[in-house]
Amino acid sequence: MTRPLTSPRLVLRPYSLADAAFVQDMYARPEVQRYIGDGTQRVRTLDEARAKIIAWNERYLAEPTQGLWAVCRKDGTVTGSLLLKPIPDSKTAVERDIEIGWHVHPDHWGHGYATEAARAVLEHAFASGLERVVAVTHPANTASQAVCLRLGMTHLGLSDAYYDAACELFDSTAPAAGEEQGGEQS
Ligand SMILES: CC(C)(COP(=O)(O)OP(=O)(O)OC[C@H]1O[C@@H](n2cnc3c(N)ncnc32)[C@H](O)[C@@H]1OP(=O)(O)O)[C@@H](O)C(=O)NCCC(=O)NCCS
Repeated sequence: MTRPLTSPRLVLRPYSLADAAFVQDMYARPEVQRYIGDGTQRVRTLDEARAKIIAWNERYLAEPTQGLWAVCRKDGTVTGSLLLKPIPDSKTAVERDIEIGWHVHPDHWGHGYATEAARAVLEHAFASGLERVVAVTHPANTASQAVCLRLGMTHLGLSDAYYDAACELFDSTAPAAGEEQGGEQS
């Protein structure tokens, strides 16, 4: 299941149906969807948002580590999403690796929330036994690449290993015992 996590300014929790208006608003926006998939996906109605939330929560119910989190400020304001999930290899349905991803509502860009939430999810991933987490971004998505670099992820260059698309690929590996997770502090 999507396990609740916390960081200095944020609480990460599963979405609930009460978040449907937020989900609809964020995922209707071209500036949020621009670099996700083919860039054309939109959540157009509250019913679509509710269906997404139900599907997300069902998908991760039996998963001990993976999840899709609503990233909230400690005053309860929802700011965006963090996800930790299998990533499809190109040219096959096989999913061997785990990816981390982030979607922040434009009203909340520029506060370090994506980096802070992702750091909490990476710590959770490695504490749960994952050895490697990857992130892929559209080559033009410099804001997302900056998040990867702030997290201390390693830039492996342009790769077509996943999603049948050329993406900038980053990875992060579990710290050795006694070693702190790397990355610039927010
Ligand atoms: C990618 C995305 C999450 C980046 O959001 P972001 O707000 O720029 O990233 P962060 O949360 O790490 O915030 C970093 C910024 O907050 C600033 N900041 C302000 N206060 C801060 C604080 N207290 N702590 C840390 N950073 C802070 C940083 O200086 C930095 O600003 P800069 O970009 O001008 O240098 C956002 O652009 C987005 O949601 N895009 C649409 C979805 C998307 O493309 N997702 C990725 C798919 S691969």
